Amino acid sequence: MKQRVEIIGNCTLYLGDCLAVLPTLGKVDAVVTDPPYSSGGFTRGDRTLETSRKYQQTGLEKYFDNFSGDSRDQRSWVYWMSFWISLALRVLEPGAMFCLFTDWRQLPATTDALQCGGGVWRGIAVWDKQNGRPFPDRFKSSAEYIVWGRNGPRKIDMKDKDSVYLPGVFSFPFPSPLKREHSTQKPIELMKNLVQVARPGKTILDPFMGSGTTGVACVEQGRCFVGIELNEKYFAVACKRIEEAWRAQEKQPGLFPDTAGRAAAVGE
Ligand SMILES: C[S@@+](CC[C@H](N)C(=O)[O-])C[C@H]1O[C@@H](n2cnc3c(N)ncnc32)[C@H](O)[C@@H]1O
Repeated sequence: MKQRVEIIGNCTLYLGDCLAVLPTLGKVDAVVTDPPYSSGGFTRGDRTLETSRKYQQTGLEKYFDNFSGDSRDQRSWVYWMSFWISLALRVLEPGAMFCLFTDWRQLPATTDALQCGGGVWRGIAVWDKQNGRPFPDRFKSSAEYIVWGRNGPRKIDMKDKDSVYLPGVFSFPFPSPLKREHSTQKPIELMKNLVQVARPGKTILDPFMGSGTTGVACVEQGRCFVGIELNEKYFAVACKRIEEAWRAQEKQPGLFPDTAGRAAAVGE
């Protein structure tokens, strides 16, 4: 497997398998990520569909490249999740936040995997996609979830004036297929909220960055970023989007008060 590193401003982007890259990283201040869900449908056939078909309306699959890691059965998915989570926790600061996207099918397996990997599960936030598909005589599937926890306990200082108070439910529409470059691309406004789990100037790690939305949010919110992506095409999309975001933010001096994060993250 080809491995590559691109440094764009305060972002370090790795092309490669996160299992190989994670052990080489320096310390980070939060993990915010959207791994392959290995979810979908009623049957094994539904779950093993190509991702370009699984996560779109029929007819739109030609617009998206497939990605791997999305067809494991639930047991092997939990083993794999626990493995990479344990590697990510080794580079995460003690007490720091770990946020993982999941859907309703994989929600119980995701909270298991976070704990098996060594994280302390603390809660679940909701992403209300607003535009989820309605079905007759049942509830609309309009939510995904952010399972969150910490790398061990953290002392809370209620008098800390720099604390942010984030909501537990986020309502942002899933970007339309014409505005997406990845089949499961998350809305930028949602990610701009989530990256606030680390303070400005700190470093956020996304081991499954896809088209780089977490990285764009980090740039726009003054956080440093370390991203990993296995698929070469999506890696190129992430580099392009983060480069554009970085060029735009360079015109706003003072967004990065502390640049120590990047040096730490690349293990210098
Ligand atoms: C659900 S998508 C992330 C989409 C992203 N949130 C966005 O907004 O574009 C998961 C990504 O993880 C990548 N991936 C799968 N297995 C991987 C691995 N072992 N290491 C690194 N990336 C991997 C896939 O190629 C895919 O692009």
